[in-house]
Amino acid sequence: MCGIVGVTGTQEAASILIEGLKRLEYRGYDSAGIAIQRPHGQYVVKEKGKIRNLEASLDWNELKGTCGIAHTRWATHGVPNRDNAHPHVAGKIALVHNGIIENYAALKVQLRKKGRVFSSETDTEVLVHLIDDLYDGDLVTAVQKALALVDGAFGIAVTHADEPDLIVGARRGSPLVVGVGDGENFLASDVAAVMGHTRQVIYLDDGEMVVLRPGSVQTMTISNEAITKEVQEITWDLGQIQKGGFEHFMLKEIFEQPTTIRDAFRGRTLPDTGDVKLGGIQLTDWELRNIRRIIILACGTSWHAGLVGEYMLEEYAHLPVEVEYASEFRYRSPIIEPGTLCLVISQSGETIDTLEAMREARRRGAKILGITNVVGSTIARESECGVYIHAGPEIGVASTKAFTSQVTILGLITILLGRRGHLSADRGTQMLKELDRVPDLVQRVLDQAERIKDIARVYANHHNCLYLGRGVNFPIALEGALKLKEISYIHAEGYPAAEMKHGPIALIDENMPVVFICTKDSAYEKVVSNMMEVRARKGRIIAIATEGDTEVAQRADHVLYVPPSIPMLQPILSVIPLQLLSYHVAVQRGCDVDQPRNLAKSVTVE
Ligand code: AGP
Repeated sequence: MCGIVGVTGTQEAASILIEGLKRLEYRGYDSAGIAIQRPHGQYVVKEKGKIRNLEASLDWNELKGTCGIAHTRWATHGVPNRDNAHPHVAGKIALVHNGIIENYAALKVQLRKKGRVFSSETDTEVLVHLIDDLYDGDLVTAVQKALALVDGAFGIAVTHADEPDLIVGARRGSPLVVGVGDGENFLASDVAAVMGHTRQVIYLDDGEMVVLRPGSVQTMTISNEAITKEVQEITWDLGQIQKGGFEHFMLKEIFEQPTTIRDAFRGRTLPDTGDVKLGGIQLTDWELRNIRRIIILACGTSWHAGLVGEYMLEEYAHLPVEVEYASEFRYRSPIIEPGTLCLVISQSGETIDTLEAMREARRRGAKILGITNVVGSTIARESECGVYIHAGPEIGVASTKAFTSQVTILGLITILLGRRGHLSADRGTQMLKELDRVPDLVQRVLDQAERIKDIARVYANHHNCLYLGRGVNFPIALEGALKLKEISYIHAEGYPAAEMKHGPIALIDENMPVVFICTKDSAYEKVVSNMMEVRARKGRIIAIATEGDTEVAQRADHVLYVPPSIPMLQPILSVIPLQLLSYHVAVQRGCDVDQPRNLAKSVTVE
């Protein structure tokens, strides 16, 4: 998720663009750049880091011009540095992009054959070279031809030095909005960047383009059919917009999950062969086949994702797995034999306990595969190979979308290793088909948000809560309890349901809410018996159950239904109601949901 802004009009563009970027900084903040149209070509400046770094390196005398585009980056392909920052330039064309070009590697090979030279690691630079390669005096046509060859998601803004006050924009899968002004027009990833200048906007839909000049706005499809778009009035304030109309970043990030889960596996699945391709894993099939043991290192929510990964890898890749608290692992004397692969999971990529545990494992001979959300983070840089989860910036301290994307990536790694072992192509294809359904199934769970809010009201004043699940739902019980603890300050514990009888059952009475994750799987009947044990002691029960399961409804005070999926992917669905429940309980209790007390988004101290 990056931020794009463009303007063509009568005012000096540079200050408008810089102001717009600052309002989009929550979308990405690892590098930024600007391109201003001037009589003798475009003036392009790019800088690593926050907008203020770019601002500091600008020569405002050089920035005279009333048309330009700008970008703030959240890296997906290529570490945060000046070369990988946008705008990317080819010939006289400058381009800024938000999204992922899935087939960029194949296009790059063809363009290289035509003598094209690339100066960055990005997928985006391939697109600007493709447009330049197809350019024949008309930028709109060149963009249309190029986009017809592109797979993946994009929101782009493009300028050409020979067409000085023109900006061409297009979208598929990434947001783009036009700001309609008086003698000036704007383009941006969201209205936050334009609302200082106009409240008249046009929302582009997938497959649509816009041609902007100071006095005109033309909209058409990427296949060049003219379309008429409605101009709408912005009624929100800035804070609301940056949160996408949600009250908190955490809630926005919970609702982003249908998109972020799809972005996690976008361009990485090979349904025909039931396999996956993970470009960042530079291991040969021989090396993958000779992995003998997996150690997962992580902290907090990432550790819970690792526990789900353990079930997947043992079940479908037949590999022995240990999930270690990174903070404990680094001070033990772990035995690392040849053939040990270490999966190091960290949203931020900077958590010191995880980083040091990774270094310890490597010191002892393990191969390191990093799974992180932040491109160029320390864990990413120090891992031999890795996979980015592509969840976009996660602002809320309580991790939500990163968790479901981590589990999705662990699913892909399970298929990668399984297909080089016992997993058949058919089975792999089935799993990928199921994975492709997950984003829509998650949306079905999110549609129950209002009902979950009502249930939260019932439990908001309790002081304790127990979360119970069996098998792959045990880690989800742990994750649900962690979410409630960290944002509502209610003491909560997650437990394997069968363990309840060995102690925690003593806590059960009419004041102890118990959340059961009891979706239909091989442990279902056993979990229902555990529910009866709680019922017998007057415990209040909230059940996460499979759609259509009326039996559980008779045994629980409240039931939240999730659609069925295969066991390996069910945790992605079962965690959503728990995220929403903890969110609404915290809001009811007046807690600062995005910045909970005593917590940091990235724990970089021991
Ligand atoms: C989760 O909501 C917390 N923010 C915390 O437990 C977090 O998961 C942990 O600090 C690990 O962070 P990481 O994934 O960035 O390494």
